[in-house]
Formats: sequence, C-alpha cells, structure tokens
Amino acid sequence: MTETYIEVKNLTKRFGEQIAVDNITFSVNKGEVVGFLGPNGAGKSTTMRMLVGYYIPTDGVAKILGYDCIEQSLEVRKHTGYLPENNPLYYDMYVKEFLLFMAYSQKISKPSQRLKEVIDLTGLGPEQHKQIGHLSRGYKQRVGLAHALLHDPEVLILDEPTSGLDPNQVIEIRNLIRELGKERTILLSTHIMQEVEQVCSRVIIINKGRIVADGDPAHLKKTIFSRRKFRLEIKEKIKGTPQVLRKWYVEPISPGHWFIYSSSEEDIRPELYELCVENNWTLLTLVEEEQPLEEVFHKLTMGS
Ligand SMILES: Nc1ncnc2c1ncn2[C@@H]1O[C@H](COP(=O)(O)OP(=O)(O)OP(=O)(O)O)[C@@H](O)[C@H]1O
Ligand SMILES: [Mg+2]
Repeated sequence: MTETYIEVKNLTKRFGEQIAVDNITFSVNKGEVVGFLGPNGAGKSTTMRMLVGYYIPTDGVAKILGYDCIEQSLEVRKHTGYLPENNPLYYDMYVKEFLLFMAYSQKISKPSQRLKEVIDLTGLGPEQHKQIGHLSRGYKQRVGLAHALLHDPEVLILDEPTSGLDPNQVIEIRNLIRELGKERTILLSTHIMQEVEQVCSRVIIINKGRIVADGDPAHLKKTIFSRRKFRLEIKEKIKGTPQVLRKWYVEPISPGHWFIYSSSEEDIRPELYELCVENNWTLLTLVEEEQPLEEVFHKLTMGS
C-alpha cells in the first residue's frame, strides 16, 4: 500500500483580489522527491507556506502525514522540516551555537548528539565554528538544511534550496538533497529544469496558481511532445526540403541539414537511412534529438 505523506485538496489562497493559489489538488507518497516547478509568482512559496501552517488557506485542505496543516499544526511541524525561501538565519550567531539553541528550543532529546549528526549529514564539519554571517552562501544553505533536519522529520519542504548558489555549490546541495531523499519525502521548489531531472522522481508544474502538469519528467516529455524529433545531415548541400522528406514535418536548418519530426512514437531512422541510400546521399548525422524539459515548461507556462 502506498502511503500519502503530503495531501493537498482544492487548496486556494487569496490575497485581497488576487488568487495566488487557485484550487490545486495533488498528493505525494512516502519516499517521493517531487519538484515543484513554476515561473516567478506561480504560487510555489504560498503553497509551501500553507503546508507548514504559516499561511491559512482561503479554501481547501492541506495535510502532512494525515495531520491537518492548520488544525493540527503542532503535529505537522513535528514531522516536517522546512527550508524557507531566502533562508533567514541569525548572522551574528555561530553555526554550532545556533543549531544547539534551536535543538534546545525544539526540546530535542540528546541535543549534542543530534547536533553532531546533522553537522555530519550536511557536511558542515569544517565550518561549524564560524559565525553564520561569515559563511559562503552554500554553507549558509547547509545551516538552513541542518536546522530543518534537527528533529529528524520524515517530510522536507524546501523552497528553492539551490537559488543563488554558484555551480559547484549547486552540485553539492543537489547531491545532499538526493542523499536526504533516500530516506525522506521531499517537496522542493525550483525554476531549474535540470534540477528536477537530476534530483526528482516527479515534477508538478504550477502556473498562475494552477497545476498545469504532474508526472514523471520523462513521461511528461513524451506526452507533451506527441512527435519525436530527429536530426538528418548529409554531405550534399541540398537547399530547402527535398520532396522525399515531405511526408514528415521538416524544419530545415541549413542546406543538407534538417530536423524531421515523426508523427507518432515511430522511430523513422531506418526509413531515413534507406532514403539516403536510394538517393545516393552521403550520410553525416542521423540521431534522435532530446526534447528538453525546458520546452515542456515553456509550452505549458507561456502558452495562451
Ligand atoms: N503575503 C502576501 N500578500 C500579498 N500577495 C502575496 C503574498 N504572498 C504572495 N503573494 C502573491 O501571490 C503570488 C504567488 O506568490 P509566490 O510567492 O507563492 O510565488 P512563487 O511561485 O513562490 O514565485 P517565486 O518563484 O518568485 O518565488 C504572487 O503574485 C505574490 O505577489
Ligand atoms: Mg517563491
């Protein structure tokens, strides 16, 4: 049996006239790492804030491990680690001092032992004696994650955990999230498609407060693009699109070089190869082109 760890049903949040989150429904099962993807202002942070009980929904229900995020917010917080957008921290405090202070204020049992565990888990060891304000952004992010992990929650809600980091730090934090995802259920928001493809088993795309897609990233690409895309390049500098290629949708790139779209799941490479032989064309390239998740995102969020 799959267990639902996060459940959102007809969730809506209005700020005056504006609808930030518009009647969204989704659930996340135990062990899933879900990417919450959407452009600026889509409603990602607002949804996450309702999940952690920071905003009261205008309508609908949000539950974590079956606990209502408003009515049973204490239980929800016991089981949920939250990394807020922009990761607010006490810059004057020292890493260890801050985490220990948080551990005591959360009444965590064996605080010193747990402190050591989260420091190891987040790779904060070499920086643990520094003042938070003196840390690099990547390490500040680790402090935020360590804080979220202190009470060993089953569910993690991470609002743009890699934003503002340099490329090396991004890789490190993504690896850390992947590691955390082995034992925890994670909902993370991001603008970055590669992040979803590298870290998440599922993506939920939100736009203008509404969910526009939900599924496995690879499957999503297949369903959004009903056509497969191939690149054909020959040595002969043929201009335009030769008659024999016109049974497909063709996009000329340069003389003797085209993108060809098959109308279905069909792999048309054998047929294209035969055509080259029949027409005495010297084949240079014949490959299937990956259709990036960026384009799925663009199609779903920029379309009318
Ligand atoms: N406290 C608030 N008062 C008024 N409007 C708000 C408030 N919080 C969010 N909004 C509005 O709700 C909409 C959704 O904002 P939200 O922060 O959830 O977007 P987001 O998807 O997290 O965007 P980003 O990628 O920029 O972080 C925005 O138009 C925003 O201005
Ligand atoms: Mg946000």
